[in-house]
Amino acid sequence: MTSITTSDQQLRLHDAEAAQPSPLPVLRGVGLRKRYRSGSSTLEVLRGVDMELAAGEFVAVVGQSGSGKTTLLHLLGLLDAPDGGEVYLGDTRIDTLSASRQDLVRNTQIGMVFQSYHLLPELDAVENVLAPLYVRYGVFEWLRRRSEARQEAVALLERFGLGHRLGHRPRQLSGGEMQRVAIARALIARPQLLLADEPTGNLDAASGAGILETLTELNQSDGLSIVMVTHDTAIAARAERVIKLADGCVEESPATSGRSAHASSDFHERPACAGG
Ligand SMILES: Nc1ncnc2c1ncn2[C@@H]1O[C@H](COP(=O)(O)OP(=O)(O)OP(=O)(O)O)[C@@H](O)[C@H]1O
Ligand SMILES: [Mg+2]
Repeated sequence: MTSITTSDQQLRLHDAEAAQPSPLPVLRGVGLRKRYRSGSSTLEVLRGVDMELAAGEFVAVVGQSGSGKTTLLHLLGLLDAPDGGEVYLGDTRIDTLSASRQDLVRNTQIGMVFQSYHLLPELDAVENVLAPLYVRYGVFEWLRRRSEARQEAVALLERFGLGHRLGHRPRQLSGGEMQRVAIARALIARPQLLLADEPTGNLDAASGAGILETLTELNQSDGLSIVMVTHDTAIAARAERVIKLADGCVEESPATSGRSAHASSDFHERPACAGG
């Protein structure tokens, strides 16, 4: 019989620990580049941005106006294609999927919240929340599931304090109420990831604080992974981690002052971000 010494055991324990794979980030952007051309000038908005989001993490993205926050969120949420780099959801590269597979990922795995809500004016609050499911299910599937789906939509709206506004259309709702309907819509498909673009940007301080409470609770009690763009440093401070964009890159040190995207009419690609 082989005897195992304490140091052997420790070694084996270390080996076992080393063999444990670290959990995959939910979302990863690798070397993301985006440039816009207008006339003879080219604007390099992102020059090789790396970012990742762990499961259950709440990350804020900050940076000056024009620094590329919305652009980055659109690349991560497959609303726009990068000029370089890769986007992964778990271990799946998603930016190169076919358009129909990207639609499916957007519709089932990623919830998006926009600064200007993007609610459909002719639908009431419950119908707006259900809109992604109309798109996802065919007619027969929808008829089979609609009563259960409606109950879920109502439950989400009630959770966000809108039980008394179920039949209201967007024009009959306040900004904070519209944003809560938009958050409920982003969650109806039970995504693992929420991408929110300045969800408090158009709101007064009290409504903004309410939205932030909602997002914090979703993160803490439901384990929802969240990327939230904001230019409000006080709001960013509520996130677990802050990613600052400056000059087309993730700023290494929060103390370094940022510049916004750089336009050039005589276009030469600028160096990639350090480490990107
Ligand atoms: N479709 C487009 N065509 C040309 N330029 C664009 C386009 N979209 C964005 N830009 C430019 O890219 C830069 C980054 O825009 P983006 O919307 O990502 O900035 P942002 O950090 O979200 O700013 P804000 O805080 O004002 O929302 C801006 O200078 C903007 O003018
Ligand atoms: Mg923006």
